[in-house]
Formats: sequence, C-alpha cells, structure tokens
Amino acid sequence: MKVLLVDDDRAIVDMLYHVLLDEGYQPTTATNGIEALEHLSRRSFDLVLTDLKMPRMGGMELLGEIGKLRNPPLVIIITGYATVETAVCAIKMGVYDYIIKPFNIDHVKLTVRRAIEKQRLERENIQLKEMIVLYNASEAISSSLEATRIIEVMLDAACVQSLADLAVLYLRDEMSRDLVLSGHQGSSGTERECEEFVGSLPAVVAENHLRPFFNGHGVRISAPGSPLHELLCAESPHRGEVGSLLSISLKANNRFVGLLNLFSLTPGVTFSDHDGRALYILAAKGAGAIENAFLYENTQQNYLQTIRSFACALEAKDRYTHGHSQQVTRYAEAIARAMKLSVDEIELLGQAGMLHDIGKIGISEAILNKPGPLTASEYEIIKQHPVTGKHILMPITSLSLIVPIVYHHHERWDGSGYPDGLGGADIPLMSRILGVADAFDAMTSIRAYRRPLAPPEAFAEIFRGSGSQFDPAIVDIFLHLRTSVEALMLRG
Ligand SMILES: [Fe+2]
Repeated sequence: MKVLLVDDDRAIVDMLYHVLLDEGYQPTTATNGIEALEHLSRRSFDLVLTDLKMPRMGGMELLGEIGKLRNPPLVIIITGYATVETAVCAIKMGVYDYIIKPFNIDHVKLTVRRAIEKQRLERENIQLKEMIVLYNASEAISSSLEATRIIEVMLDAACVQSLADLAVLYLRDEMSRDLVLSGHQGSSGTERECEEFVGSLPAVVAENHLRPFFNGHGVRISAPGSPLHELLCAESPHRGEVGSLLSISLKANNRFVGLLNLFSLTPGVTFSDHDGRALYILAAKGAGAIENAFLYENTQQNYLQTIRSFACALEAKDRYTHGHSQQVTRYAEAIARAMKLSVDEIELLGQAGMLHDIGKIGISEAILNKPGPLTASEYEIIKQHPVTGKHILMPITSLSLIVPIVYHHHERWDGSGYPDGLGGADIPLMSRILGVADAFDAMTSIRAYRRPLAPPEAFAEIFRGSGSQFDPAIVDIFLHLRTSVEALMLRG
C-alpha cells in the first residue's frame, strides 16, 4: 500500500516515514502541495497524509486537486492549526480523518490502518463493478451477429469502464487499408457537442502512420503534445481539451482490424494502465465479434444474391413464366398500398413476391413446362415448392419474416390449399395478398397448354374464387383496383 506524506516539518515527515515503513506500507514524502501533486501525477497512492499549512500549496488546496483525480486516494489531515471551520470544510471536501498535532503515534497507526482498509474495500468494490460491466458487455458481444450492435455495446462499456467522455471507433477498410471512423459514443456533454467534436476528428487515419505506435503494444496512453495525440486529434480545434487519450489496437486472427480511442475531456482526469488492460480484453473480444459479424453479413448477402440469381434464371429459361415474379410483386404491392399497409410491410411483401416460387428450382423442367394437365404424382411434386422455398430461404436471417409468407402462398381461404391446409385469417395476410396476385398473373399469362385469359375473364375468375380460394376482403380491393391493375399488365 502506497502512502504519500506531505508536511514541511522535516522532523515529523521523517518520524512518520519510519512508522509507516515499520507498519509495512510504502511511504513517499513531499514538503508541500505542489510536490505532492507531482508525485500523484506519476503514480497512484492509496492514502495521503497531509499538513494544512505549507509553503507554495497548502493542504486544503491540495485536497481540492486530489478530488479531481480519477481514482483519488483517501486523505488524512494532520495539523497543528485546527479550527472548527477548517475541519468542517475538509470533511465536506471528502477528507477521511483529521488528526491534531501533537499526535499519539498509536492513534496515527490505527487511523492509517482503518483508512487503508476502507480504501481496499472501495477499490475491490469498484473492480467488481468494472468486472460486471465487462462481463455483461462480453456476453452481449458474444451473443450478437450484428456488427452495429456489437460496436454499440463495445463503445458503451468502454465509456462506463474508463469514465471516458467519448469513445470513437475506427475500423480498417480492406480496400484502402486505412482506418475509417466507424462509430462513436459520448458519455458527457450534449449530443450536439459530441457530434461536433467527432466531426472535427480525422475521418480516416492512414494505417502506416499508426502502425509504428503499436509495434509490440496493444494499448497507448497519450498526453497532449505527444505524436500519437497529435495524429489522432490532428486538425481538431478541440484537441487542447483532450487531456488524456487512451488508444487500443483491435486485432482479430492476428490482424490489425481497427482502433478504439477513448477521450478524457475532463481536466485532471487521465487514463491509467489499469483502464488499458481491462479494455484491451474487451476490445479483442469485440474485434473478433465484429469480424465474424461482417463475415456472416457478407455470407448472407452472397447467399441472397445467389438465390435471387437462381430465381431470375428459373424464369429466364421458361418463356411462359418469364417476368411472373415481377408481375406478381407489382399486383401485390398495389393491393398492399390500397390496404394502407406500412412502407416496411410493402417492402417485405415485395421481397416475398420476388422469391415466392423459388422452391420451383427443385422441380424438373419437364413437369414445370408440361404442355397438358399434370398427373396426380406430378401435382404432388409441384405442391412441394412452398416447402422447398422455405428451406432455401430459412438460412438467411434477414429474410426470416418472408419465409412464412412464401411458405403459405398456396393456402386457400376455405382451407383446401397447401402445404398446411390453413384457412381464413390463419393464413398470413401477405400470403393471402400474394395468392390473389399470383392467380391473376397465371390466368392472364400464356401457358404451353392454353391461351391467356382476357382481363375481364380473369377478374371474373378471381371474383368466383372469393370466399373459397381467396380472402373476400382482398378480392374486393383487387376488383376496385381494376384500372390500375390493367395499367400494370401493360408494363409487364
Ligand atoms: Fe407458387
């Protein structure tokens, strides 16, 4: 345990120095407040024993400065000039105890022992809280595959753990190999102040400028004027406000993938090695998770692109169904707009429309393009396409909402459809909309075995299916849209 002794009376300092040494503490001495602050800026102490009246800087002023430190030590005042006013003022400023000279050595020993024990418990408590913050963040990071969510959790935990005023994340751009500002989180000031500060920081930092600072180091703490501080605060008019900057390199699979910067804008609050060590572990975990999330999102996008291409290819090779999905989507969206569905719902319906027959990928062309009625077993194969579609789309997390729409698009209002024989409102609304749109386009399109129906005949067929094949409410809306549907037909 480190104790700082501050007194201009050499005899008292020497005596207390040996007493504390005998008690097993590591004492350091200073003869006034200025000297004491120099010691406090270089290393952390558990306890400060200070006189009140000293040249250059007295005990009360020193106490005020100690209060601004990030992890302030406890303070015991030892004075020969005690007044009720100074005692009250000192206690208000958070002083732990007040010893009057001349003092009894045993009393000093006991007071120091009690203070050290209190300090130990408080530090343990703080460490425990920090561990809980880090543990919760780590759990949240592990359980997410969304890069934006992971970044949010990481920045938030970094601010809480280090008491930083602002956390800024740079991620490496694989093409340019530069670090690009990718996220930030402020914990003090208004949102506007935070945005303004972040806006003044460099949006891109060249990796080769940064790399020399992190050769063999994962964490860097820089003070104003240092080269790293200059590089990261660059042209910012606020760089003078950044009293301390903690930078942590992010590595995933042994590759440099980004940089987490924590800014202290509070005068006197500087980051410690302890902050760096704790956050390095969190940053490493976050970096790995961000990489995984990007990889996952990339894989999902590729997969989605692949099945979209398959859907196009499926229609392209068959002149009878060419453009079918596109046309079904147009009709379905027109119905949805008339039903006043939300923009998000209409977008969802659009995606489902484009992919509703994706399951036909698994069906042979001989059956799909058969120029005549299907046999019972061929019809059974056709009926499998919503199920196959579900299996194809299910692995794409971002499409999870359209899977049931696609799966149920051949259900009938009277319950005689497939694959599950759902009826009425049990069929998802968007599947019911697709059902009407799908049937109308099939009827009005040319097929290998029949001519297309003219629009009036097709509308009449839809009307005939109201209440048996189709939801009557949707049929009503569709029939009211007759003119716009015919205009959409011309577009196809
Ligand atoms: Fe279908």
